[in-house]
Amino acid sequence: METGCLIDRFGRIHTDLRISVTDRCDMRCRYCMPEEGLTWSPRGDILTFEEITRFVRVLVELGLETIRLTGGEPLVRHDLPALIGNLRAAGISELAMTTNGATLHQHASALRSAGLDRLNVSCDSLRRERFAEMTRRDRLPQVLAGMDAAEAAGFPPVKVNVVLIRGWNDDEILDFADFAYRTGRTVRFIEFMPVDADELWRFDEVVSGDDVIRTVSERYDLDVIDRTHAPAQSYSLAGSTGRIGVITSMTDQFCGSCNRLRLTADGQLRNCLFGNDEYSVRDALRSGATDSELADLAIACVQAKKAHHGTDEVTISRPTRSMSQQGG
Ligand code: 5AD
Ligand code: SF4
Repeated sequence: METGCLIDRFGRIHTDLRISVTDRCDMRCRYCMPEEGLTWSPRGDILTFEEITRFVRVLVELGLETIRLTGGEPLVRHDLPALIGNLRAAGISELAMTTNGATLHQHASALRSAGLDRLNVSCDSLRRERFAEMTRRDRLPQVLAGMDAAEAAGFPPVKVNVVLIRGWNDDEILDFADFAYRTGRTVRFIEFMPVDADELWRFDEVVSGDDVIRTVSERYDLDVIDRTHAPAQSYSLAGSTGRIGVITSMTDQFCGSCNRLRLTADGQLRNCLFGNDEYSVRDALRSGATDSELADLAIACVQAKKAHHGTDEVTISRPTRSMSQQGG
């Protein structure tokens, strides 16, 4: 099989895959899910670890380098370290995971031993009551304990994802900067995107990355760190190993350098969070596709990728799946 084939019409080489291992979650963030949860995929529709690993092996032959495991909440999937071990053996250079952190303190050392490299933990407020309000779960102490447990288990300082929503948590920007300064962690502020299942999103609730940087600069000297494919623009905080970053998905598109594919829990390959095209890896796997047919499917998906996702257009069309259904 030829390598380096995951190249789109704009010359972007796709080396990064997000894999949602489940669409279920043990939290109910208001900007993501309704109280009653979503309609979860039937268990039989979810890819098995063997199916995921087989597809990843094919992608590695095509030049895939990095994987991030997501959900829903990946830790609600039973026996995740087994998958991590298999993916490691498939020849991936970096394996990361995004988690809500609620049960991380129980799983951190098994994840590390299995070969997970890095962790991002979502945490939208450092105030217990507000955290409970935003996530509909009173789990801030567990989440903070999970971050500590991860670092104690040998993970590098975790990256903390904060979705900022005006009027909800934008008064905590400096508290989060202090948290980064004090802990040596990276705090990444994410612009609220219209991918919430409850359709709460309004443009005036988006807090721009520029606003964040302006606010943090009032207290800290910031230095820009080079950006490659990362959707985050990061800054070092003078006097600390901690960093802050902004993910400006709404105000400054990074689509031009996007090198990311997504595999949903039910086995659909997607080339954009906002696009609606899906390529059914699951159907291919379950109807006896050969490795080269799986490779063709992935290549077709990459070649159909658009130049950008179009959140700057007057009418923003919501994707057919919410964030939690396609893995952040
Ligand atoms: N806008 C921005 N980020 C979101 N996330 C979930 N929903 C949204 C949204 N509507 C984030 C989570 C988590 C990551 C997986 O995606 O907070 O950090
Ligand atoms: Fe669960 Fe993450 Fe959605 Fe919150 S943002 S409900 S933790 S999937």
